[in-house]
Amino acid sequence: MSRDVHIIDHPLVQHKLTLMRRKDTSTKSFRELVHELSALLAYELTREMPMQTIEIETPLEKMNSRVIDGKKIVLASILRAGNGFLDGMLQVIPGARVGHVGLYRDPATLQAVEYYFKMPSGMEERDVIVLDPMLATGNSAVAAVDRLKQTKPRSIRFVCLVTCPQGINTFHDAHPDVPIYTPAVDRELNEHGYIVPGLGDAGDRIFGTK
Ligand code: URA
Repeated sequence: MSRDVHIIDHPLVQHKLTLMRRKDTSTKSFRELVHELSALLAYELTREMPMQTIEIETPLEKMNSRVIDGKKIVLASILRAGNGFLDGMLQVIPGARVGHVGLYRDPATLQAVEYYFKMPSGMEERDVIVLDPMLATGNSAVAAVDRLKQTKPRSIRFVCLVTCPQGINTFHDAHPDVPIYTPAVDRELNEHGYIVPGLGDAGDRIFGTK
């Protein structure tokens, strides 16, 4: 089955991702880069968003012109690393609403267990962009989208910084209708569930917790 994966190959995106991958990149630089990259990713993610035509007045005359309804967009952050995407995306889509999904992995069953879920009201009319920098095993992404689908949003997209074949397959086996937007598909997952070559633990690198 062909997978709906959009590779974001823009030179600015690839350049910044390379800087983020380097192990000697400081927390400060990493955070600045994820902020800049998020804004560039938002540009690609919103390329096919529905638009509406409104009447405006230029200094010369009235005209009909197109706008995105930013308020219909929900940025759904998978805690905690997904929060790293928020500021940069909100800079480009300031009207977007923000939701949060908190999941942890049960050590006995290895299944994702929800501990927090908060979305705006009226999800039936909204387009959701799910944020998680690393689509690795795919388990938390699948669980987050399972839960989001219960709210019946108009559309769902998934965005990450780096993924790998296993993450894509697990995610799309469960949710073939949700496109993945990513700048990079890396080689594989290692035995600890890290993407290699990857960029390490995205949450630790954004929040400086290592
Ligand atoms: N989560 C991360 O932060 N990094 C990985 O490589 C995999 C999961």
